[in-house]
Amino acid sequence: MSAAANGAMLAVEDVTTAYGAIVALRGVSLTVGHGEIVTLIGANGAGKSTLMMTICGSPAPREGRVVLEGRDITGWPTHLIMRQGLAHAPEGRRIFPRMTVLENLRMGAEVLNGAHFDQDLEKVCALFPRLKERLGQRGGTLSGGEQQMLAIARALMSRPRLLLLDEPSLGLAPMVVRQIFAAIRDLNRETGLTVLLVEQNAYHALRLAHRGYVLVNGRITMTGTGAELLARPEVRAAYLEGGRA
Ligand SMILES: Nc1ncnc2c1ncn2[C@@H]1O[C@H](COP(=O)(O)OP(=O)(O)OP(=O)(O)O)[C@@H](O)[C@H]1O
Ligand SMILES: [Mg+2]
Repeated sequence: MSAAANGAMLAVEDVTTAYGAIVALRGVSLTVGHGEIVTLIGANGAGKSTLMMTICGSPAPREGRVVLEGRDITGWPTHLIMRQGLAHAPEGRRIFPRMTVLENLRMGAEVLNGAHFDQDLEKVCALFPRLKERLGQRGGTLSGGEQQMLAIARALMSRPRLLLLDEPSLGLAPMVVRQIFAAIRDLNRETGLTVLLVEQNAYHALRLAHRGYVLVNGRITMTGTGAELLARPEVRAAYLEGGRA
């Protein structure tokens, strides 16, 4: 195991992931330190969601390793990985549409078998007051922004040490995006929550993150602090032109 993997919250080492003949990740390596916000930016189809899903064990990588808090979890089934202090808010706000907001939040807390539920419910309601007013409403009838808040809140209900967020800003109005990014920043500052954030909205993501990686066609092409990456003309061009080299 590499030195980086030993000290990091998460280390992805030389990971190759394929869907049949389609190779989505080609030797991807990255680390996320304890208490860090790290962002992965890239265009449509670059492989961002595939990396998140590979970390969660489905699909499993064809080559390489995923190391969580020093433990090699490569090849573990997803349900076991989700019990290791990691939560995933997947792309597209995959909440349970027929369940109420409260029921969705209960699903998020399932890995804790209901421990601390009331206390944690209060915390996520304080973070997202709109959800508090809508606990009895069905998830599918929430607005897009509210569904995104619910997806994040549901992930937080499992008390993760590492939160994987896949495009939380997708399709949302700028004000809602700011609210959600502010919530992530506050959680990180106040609780030390470690975050791996996937975004196409490179500007906001790099301003929020301590460090970032740029993914182009399944390969990491650049890395640096958020500020460094924001200053790079290639990043600006890639962001404006959609991220393809
Ligand atoms: N289940 C699948 N079967 C086959 N190919 C897939 C599957 N899921 C993703 N791919 C392919 O893998 C590549 C990477 O997709 P992925 O969803 O990881 O990209 P992404 O960076 O998250 O893009 P976006 O910004 O559009 O969400 C794409 O070419 C996509 O078509
Ligand atoms: Mg995606």
